[in-house]
Amino acid sequence: MRISFPASSTSSSERSRAITIFVDGQPVIAYEGETVAAVLLAETRRTFRRTPGRNEPRGLFCGIGVCYDCLVTVNGQANVRACQTPVVEGMRVTTEETQRQWRQPASSARAERGGQADLYVEAAVVGAGPAGLEAAIAAAGASVRVALLDSASQLGGQYFKGPDWQPVPQQDAEAAALFARVRDIPTLQHFVKTQVWGAFPEGDGWLLTLDGPSAPFRIHTQTLILATGAYDRPIAFPGWTLPGVMTAGAAQTLLKSQNILPGKRVVVAGAGPLHWVVAAQLVRAGAEVVAVLEAVPRARFLHPKHIPALWRQWQRLREGWEAWRALRRADVTMRFGWGVLRAHGHEQVEAVTITPLDEQWTPQPGRAETVPADTVVIGYGFLPANQLTRLLGCEHEYSPRRGGWIPRRDAWMQTSLPGLFAVGDGAGVGGAALARIEGALAGLYAAHLLGRLSKEDLHRAETSLRRRLRREQRFATMLGDLFTPGPGLYTLADETTIICRCEEVRLGDIQRARAAGAETLNEIKGLTRAGMGNCQGRICGDLMAHALVSGDVATQEQQLRNLGMLSVRPPIHPLTVETLAEAAEDM
Ligand SMILES: Cc1cc2nc3c(=O)[nH]c(=O)nc-3n(C[C@H](O)[C@H](O)[C@H](O)COP(=O)(O)OP(=O)(O)OC[C@H]3O[C@@H](n4cnc5c(N)ncnc54)[C@H](O)[C@@H]3O)c2cc1C
Ligand code: FES
Repeated sequence: MRISFPASSTSSSERSRAITIFVDGQPVIAYEGETVAAVLLAETRRTFRRTPGRNEPRGLFCGIGVCYDCLVTVNGQANVRACQTPVVEGMRVTTEETQRQWRQPASSARAERGGQADLYVEAAVVGAGPAGLEAAIAAAGASVRVALLDSASQLGGQYFKGPDWQPVPQQDAEAAALFARVRDIPTLQHFVKTQVWGAFPEGDGWLLTLDGPSAPFRIHTQTLILATGAYDRPIAFPGWTLPGVMTAGAAQTLLKSQNILPGKRVVVAGAGPLHWVVAAQLVRAGAEVVAVLEAVPRARFLHPKHIPALWRQWQRLREGWEAWRALRRADVTMRFGWGVLRAHGHEQVEAVTITPLDEQWTPQPGRAETVPADTVVIGYGFLPANQLTRLLGCEHEYSPRRGGWIPRRDAWMQTSLPGLFAVGDGAGVGGAALARIEGALAGLYAAHLLGRLSKEDLHRAETSLRRRLRREQRFATMLGDLFTPGPGLYTLADETTIICRCEEVRLGDIQRARAAGAETLNEIKGLTRAGMGNCQGRICGDLMAHALVSGDVATQEQQLRNLGMLSVRPPIHPLTVETLAEAAEDM
C-alpha cells in the first residue's frame, strides 16, 4: 500500500510522475523512481516468483539486492531483482514464474555503456555509503585520483537513504554536504549503478571488474578501499520463506526510499536498535504494529556498565526515545525477552506464533501465543558484506560482536594485504558514525602511501579522528555486548525448514551431510548445494554454520571458527555471459 501524506507534507514525500506499466498483462499505475517490488506491494501482490524445486511462493525478503528472492521477469528478461529495478513507462512485469534459467534478450551492453574499457586511478573505493564517501573525499582531497563505485542508483549507502526519486535526501544536510564534496573535487570520479563483480591482484595494485551502464569494464588501481557495508542477519524459523516475512532493512527501505507500507498488521521481532526504529516508522506511516518483540531481557538494558558508552551519543538516545514514545502513544505491545517462533500461512503470512525466550534466547514454547498478522519484520543485527576481502585472500578473524568473519586490520584500516583497506560495516558492524571515521582514516593513509600527504599532515589530520574513533568503538562494543544473538536463536528451524533459500536446501539435508563426514562449510556446500545459489551464501552461510554447532557459547564460537568461511569466486554477483565476455575483451 502507498503511504498517503497530508497536504502540508514536504516535497520529499510527494510522488513523482505517474506512468503505466503492465503486471501479468494488466495495466497498473506506477510512479517514476519506484522499484518493481514497491509497485507490486502497492498492488498488494506479495508473491513475486515460485521456486523451481517445490513450486513455493516467494516475495520480497532482504529488500536491498542481497538475497535474490524477489526475482521477476521484466520485458522478457528472467531473474530480474524486483527490489533493485526501477519501473519505466510501458514496462512488462511477469510474476509467479518459476525463475530458473538466466536469459537475456540480445542487446549491446557495450554500446549502452559508451564503450570505455579501462580506467587507471590511484585509489578505487568500492561502496559509497558513509565509509566510502569519507574515504574517497579524504583521498581525493589530497589530490589522489579516485574512482568511487556503488551498485546503488544513488550515493549514500544504507544510512543516507531517501526517496529514490530524490538524488539527495533534502532533510539531510550532512548527506547533502558529503554529496556536494564528491561532485566538487576534480580528482574524484564517481559511478553509481556500478556493480564490482570481481577483484584481482595486478602487479603492485588491483584490478576491479565492473558492470554498469556508464562505468568502464575494468579499473586498475594502486590502492583499494573496500567499503561494502552490511546486510540484515537472516534468521531461519518455520515459515520464514513465506511472502510477508522480511528483514527490518527491507521494511525500512520500502518506507524510506519508496513510501510504501510493507503490510497492514505487522509483528516486528529482533534485537535492537534498528527494529525499534523501524517499528516506530511503521506506526507513523499508518501500519498496525501488533507487537514489538525484543530478544534481550529488559533488565540487561538497565545495567550500569553501559552508561559510559552512551556518553555524547545524544542524537542516538533522542532517536531511541522518540521511537519508544511513538510506540507507547500507539499503544503497541512491547515485550522483552520474546521472539518469533513460527510464521503460518499457505501462500503468504496469515498468523505468527510468538514466544518467550530464555537467557540464551532459546524459545520457551509453553507460553507461546499465535496472533493474526500479514507481515513479520525481523531485525537481528547485521552481517558484514565481506565477499571482496574474502575473494582477495585477506586474513580474517571470527568476531561475533562485529557480525562474524571480519578482515584483520591495522590502525589505518589496512588489511593483511598492503595497499588494501577495509572500512565501515563491511569490515565489522559498528554503525554509520564509526564507518565515517574509519573511511576518513583509510583515505588519508592511502594518500600518504601514494606520496600525496606528508607524515606531518597525516598525523595532524588523525588527532581528532582518533578521539572520535575511540568513542564510537566503545558504543559499537556496547551494542555488540547487548545484541549479539544468543545461541538459542539458531534452534528455531526444524528439519524441514529451508536454510538455503536459493537452492531450497533444508536443515535436515545439512545435518545429513554433516553426519556423512563433512567438516567445513565448503564440504557441506559441495554435498548439498547450500551456498551455491544466486546469493552465493550471503543468506545461508551464517545459518548453515550455526546449525552445525552445539554446546556453550565459547565452545560454539570455537566450532564456528573451525567450520571456516565459504569460499568466494568471481563473479560475486550473477552476471550475463555477455558482461563476462566484455570484461575479458582487449585484455
Ligand atoms: C538495510 C539497512 C538499514 C539500516 N538502517 C539504519 C538506520 O535506520 N539507522 C542507523 O543508524 N543505521 C542504520 N543502518 C546501519 C547503517 O546504515 C550502517 O551502519 C552504515 O550505513 C554503514 O556505512 P557503510 O559505508 O559501512 O556501509 P553502507 O552504508 O551499507 O554502504 C555500502 C555501499 O556499498 C555498496 N556495495 C557493496 N558491495 C558492492 C559491490 N560489490 N559493488 C558496488 N557497490 C557495492 C552498496 O550498494 C552500499 O551502497 C542500516 C543498515 C542496513 C543494511
Ligand atoms: S541462500 Fe542463497 S546460496 Fe543459499
